[in-house]
Amino acid sequence: MGDYIVRGKNPLDGKLKVYGAKNAVLPILAGCVLSGGAVLLKNCPQLTDVSCTLNILRRLGCKTAFDGEEILVNPSGLNTCTVEAGGDMRSSVNFLGALVGRFGRAVLPAPGGCRLGRRPIDIHVRALRAMGVEVETDGDMIYAQGRPHGAEVQLDFPSVGATENVILAAVTAPGMTVLTNAAREPEIADLCRFLTAMGARIHGAGSDMIRIEGVRRLKGCEYKIMPDRIVAATYMCAAVTSGGRLEIENAVRPHLGEVARVLTRCGAEISWAPNRLEIRAPKVIGSCGTVRTEVYPGFPTDCQSQVMAVMACSAEPGIMIENIFESRFKTVPELRRMGAEIYCSGREALVRGGNLRGARLMAMDLRGGAALVVAALGARGESRISGTGFIARGYRDLAGELASVGADIMSEKP
Ligand code: UD1
Repeated sequence: MGDYIVRGKNPLDGKLKVYGAKNAVLPILAGCVLSGGAVLLKNCPQLTDVSCTLNILRRLGCKTAFDGEEILVNPSGLNTCTVEAGGDMRSSVNFLGALVGRFGRAVLPAPGGCRLGRRPIDIHVRALRAMGVEVETDGDMIYAQGRPHGAEVQLDFPSVGATENVILAAVTAPGMTVLTNAAREPEIADLCRFLTAMGARIHGAGSDMIRIEGVRRLKGCEYKIMPDRIVAATYMCAAVTSGGRLEIENAVRPHLGEVARVLTRCGAEISWAPNRLEIRAPKVIGSCGTVRTEVYPGFPTDCQSQVMAVMACSAEPGIMIENIFESRFKTVPELRRMGAEIYCSGREALVRGGNLRGARLMAMDLRGGAALVVAALGARGESRISGTGFIARGYRDLAGELASVGADIMSEKP
């Protein structure tokens, strides 16, 4: 992927439409291996993580087609429970629950993904063991054996990935699974709606207690993926740092509550209509105050870097506390290169920003990469952002979308 060249201080003005959510479509694609028939998914985003997941499905023996925003998966040729590709992507771990549900066996690489610190899978392993599945890992690979059965499963922490794996393993397992301390992220409710469209029996999706009554088989279905709340939040932050105004279509108010609260605190004006919002930047960006990442419905860890970029463009200090991941301050040295003063201590960062200037920057992870774009839009002069392959994992042509609403940004040919 080529570098992005951004010249800041060009207020955004226009309308952007949010596409389907990466964090919803990836577990849903894994869930396709449970289907007895073809699945048609609508509103799918063109992202490299989606292509990687389709690659995994093809290697498992499924037929896939990606046309515009529609993905067709035909799992009738599924012939192996070994995932060969995908070790570089955290969400390949979703195939664990889906494949043991389908075959009573799964072999897959230990998860990769953005380098956000240790990404253990002990919660997934304990949950599946409670359902009768033997899971071992040697650090490189995960080996699972045994048909899951209904069980009472309590998670020590409401892990998004572990919640998804339990649901995927349980929908075709005999008996009733009662999952407590489940994650409540909207993407989990989306996965449950998809599985329900295939014939699954799930109660309490979106709450911290989910009951799943196993069914013998699931059928094919058509399903529309929910909009990406993290992309919507990234656009909101870009509107603020650029000093502009954006209408954002497919923005779901309850999904964006905490992000909107923080941006309102720094002076942005946000007005809502059904499934859309309008955001206007303040003349001078005020303090975002103290922001803590939490499990949903708290402030999302996936928006931490972008809001830190907003803090870096504000003349007033802000404090960011990262409670979910241990190494998610990788953007800090890059923001410092732009002139922000940031003091980190453990999980806390004190951000003193102000007049950022353009610089040569390196994206270190997906959301951190998007945050550098957000910061560069608010900086004087030109920034060159390398490592944009990380950004393409979760944003469809971020440079093109922002250029369409007036940003001075271009993507260099690699
Ligand atoms: C997490 C985020 C999710 C985000 C995604 C991509 C939360 C709760 N989850 O989901 O919103 O979209 O990253 O950035 O915000 N953990 C363990 N053992 C496990 C599983 C997890 O200790 O078996 C720990 C992780 O190290 C981490 C925390 O639990 O500190 C959250 O993990 P989890 O929700 O599972 O991560 P993801 O599913 O990747």
